[in-house]
Amino acid sequence: MCGIVGYIGFREAYPILINGLKRLEYRGYDSAGIAVMNGTTNIYKHKGKVAELEETTRTKNIHGTIGMGHTRWATHGVPNDINAHPHSSQHAIFTVIHNGIIENYAKLKEKLEARGYKFVSDTDTEVLANLIEYIYIKGEVSAEIAVRLALAKVVGAYGIVIMCQNEPEQLIAARKGSPLVIGIGNNEYFVASDATPIVEYTNSVIYLNNDNIAVIKRNELTLKTIENLQVTPTVHKLTMDIDAIEKNGFEHFMLKEIFEQPRSINDTFRGRISPLLDEIRLGGLMDILPKIDQAKRIIIIACGTSWHAGLVGEYLIEEFARIPVEVEYGSEFRYRNPIINKDDIIIAISQSGETADTLAAISLAKSKGATVLGICNVVGSSIPRETHAGVYTHAGPEIGVASTKAFTAQVTVLTMFAFMMGHRKKLISNQQYKQLITDLVAIPQKIEHILEMHQEYKRIAELYKDATNFLYLGRGYLFPVALEGALKLKEISYIHAEGYPAAEMKHGPIALIDNKMPVVVIATRDKSYEKICSNIQEVKARKGIVIAIVTEGDTVIKQMADHVLEVPATNEAIAPLTTVVPLQLLSYYIAVMRGCNVDQPRNLAKSVTVE
Ligand code: G6P
Repeated sequence: MCGIVGYIGFREAYPILINGLKRLEYRGYDSAGIAVMNGTTNIYKHKGKVAELEETTRTKNIHGTIGMGHTRWATHGVPNDINAHPHSSQHAIFTVIHNGIIENYAKLKEKLEARGYKFVSDTDTEVLANLIEYIYIKGEVSAEIAVRLALAKVVGAYGIVIMCQNEPEQLIAARKGSPLVIGIGNNEYFVASDATPIVEYTNSVIYLNNDNIAVIKRNELTLKTIENLQVTPTVHKLTMDIDAIEKNGFEHFMLKEIFEQPRSINDTFRGRISPLLDEIRLGGLMDILPKIDQAKRIIIIACGTSWHAGLVGEYLIEEFARIPVEVEYGSEFRYRNPIINKDDIIIAISQSGETADTLAAISLAKSKGATVLGICNVVGSSIPRETHAGVYTHAGPEIGVASTKAFTAQVTVLTMFAFMMGHRKKLISNQQYKQLITDLVAIPQKIEHILEMHQEYKRIAELYKDATNFLYLGRGYLFPVALEGALKLKEISYIHAEGYPAAEMKHGPIALIDNKMPVVVIATRDKSYEKICSNIQEVKARKGIVIAIVTEGDTVIKQMADHVLEVPATNEAIAPLTTVVPLQLLSYYIAVMRGCNVDQPRNLAKSVTVE
């Protein structure tokens, strides 16, 4: 949801802002803009991608060492030049960029209009800019005080950066809900929605907390709460590698991230599996393991792809650790008055660690006294800071909007968790434990093998790229994989796709099947194998086209299906980790062949920081 970048220091701000916006573009990409201060504040913004902004500004000789940039994911007002950020206040004293939603903007706008303010855009951000200016002029206060008083009147979420024309030697940044990171250099500071625009300049960062306001000068940073109390900043060291946020020769980030999975899963294992493969140790959970041992119930909360990983987690934890599990969408959980007990364990899963609905569900669970664990990818993000304990997935930065390596990393953590708990509870013998771990650590190599066959996926993609609907079927552990496969396809290729438990097909989707309907069936050898073979027959009897993901060497399904894609045999409990990869590749190639913007699909954003 919207990317924010700001700079104050001794370098030219323009290239830092444009490059920063390119890195942040995965957060939103319907319009982009920058403002650079150099005596006056010059704003350049328009609808479209950062590359277009760069194209139109490159020759404009933009100089100045203070500035800010924004890439937008529209909430209030359609994507157009006027609604693009930065927004100026009416008398051009303040310039604001904003990520989030000002929920009471209509009321504030009405009041400002009654006091003579006129608005040019449809955005809530312009309301904020004018509110700050109104307070500044009326109250004859400093920019910092005006910002603080204005924010006290705001209901909603924000990450904002503000420049004041009358106090040109500073940036003001504030956060409530939407993330902001401040990078500390020598006589220079950077502000951004995440660390990716900062990492090439410095690895010392401060993660802004909720209700914090930072006044940033070239050589000084003051941090206060919205109540004007001084805060001592905590400086963190970034471990992010610059290569991790480049495409490194791949055509798209998504393809790079699909191909990274053997490496990223190994990174998820690192330090957590004993050399003899006889123990799993999730360091971040050690202190609360006794509590988990006693848990009567686990509730998994997530959104999107992370929710699919949660479903796999449910199957794993119930099978191996015999703890009842419920899987909830953050948005439903937070608003439906759920029953939460003090001895419940909540597991929040999130790649970004910033998803607003997941965060709100966490605070609800905490308010009822439950213990909350996080499984997150982005180090230092909000969810790990809000939870009692947790496990980082360590998949590295995921830039493609459609999640791939984060999903397999989440499933890897959940698999390790289920095996570890099963062993702790003595439900799994030492021998079984060792076998399960051995099977798990063999996964990266098996994925490597699947990736080698990527040309095969291209061939099938070519055949079905013009289909208008797809159905994905799976049973047991492979049902969530069917959901994830369908989600990947619709996200990036805009083909309508549905995932179903294979047996449920008879209760509805079967009516859709005809000779134009590709049905992707995930049918590796497991305890439902015979049943899924019958489901394939049912599809074929209605002339549907079957693309089956099968275990290497399968001859039975080969006779029935139109196409088979083989994956190496593995324990069925960890088959989601292999079987999802062909589905990622299939979606990727179909989307590329349809000419879609794979890394930045329309209307989507990488992290959804508004509800
Ligand atoms: C957005 C992204 C999805 C992601 C979901 C949850 O919709 O486009 O890829 O699965 O948010 O995000 P999280 O960061 O919480 O995993």
